[in-house]
Amino acid sequence: MKRVIVLTGAGISAESGLKTFRDSDGLWEGYNIEDVATPEAWERNPELVQNFYNQRRKSVLEAVPNAAHYALAKLQDKYDVTIITQNIDDLHERAGSANVVHLHGIITRSQSSVKASLTYPIDGWEIKMGEKCELGSQLRAHVVWFGEAVPMIETAARLCSKADLFILIGTSLAVYPAAGLINYVPREVTKYIVDPNIPTASNKHIIEMPYKATIGVPMLVNDLLV
Ligand code: APR
Repeated sequence: MKRVIVLTGAGISAESGLKTFRDSDGLWEGYNIEDVATPEAWERNPELVQNFYNQRRKSVLEAVPNAAHYALAKLQDKYDVTIITQNIDDLHERAGSANVVHLHGIITRSQSSVKASLTYPIDGWEIKMGEKCELGSQLRAHVVWFGEAVPMIETAARLCSKADLFILIGTSLAVYPAAGLINYVPREVTKYIVDPNIPTASNKHIIEMPYKATIGVPMLVNDLLV
């Protein structure tokens, strides 16, 4: 089976009602990254940060996968598919994708605030102040903040280097190290980009599909399955 590596960003979940970060009306239009998505923010005001991610979790639990998530799951019929996602939602899994690598964590789990590798399932939508990990520290959302290490990046780079086909969907490629992953894909490998606003990527054999995910991804998957 040919190995397909898919790298997704916020754009694939936009039509499920989850805001992207950098589009106009994106999440970072209403918030300062420094206030909610850094270790310093957590030190300064843990309640605010906890509440911000509790709200994100609530939105994710209320959202459902869209045609793009389902099309990628269908691609597994004929290909060995691994999805590397920057998204903290679980919509790929809910649509039926079996191999999903979460580069930036997953909002449906909590994490120790002193040891990032300690993560736990969450009962309901909220992490409450006072809920602690096994080491006695406050639980926080299992997400990678700006300034924190990205533990899955080496796994992701290795996967990209082994791709027979590469698909990039709904990401502005503004945030490193994730944005650099496309450089690990061998130059001769065909790379599709599905995004109404095609990001700049310096690699060869790029096929641009300037469509929204729910249009472009099913179209591409149909082509790949014939
Ligand atoms: N279908 C496909 N792509 C879309 C759609 C859509 N319906 N709507 C918007 N997009 C595209 C935009 O054109 C843009 O290229 O999705 C991309 C969203 O970019 P960002 O908001 O920058 O999101 P992303 O690239 O996932 O951000 C990366 O930054 O804030 C951090 O940790 C956060 O994982 C996130 C990372």
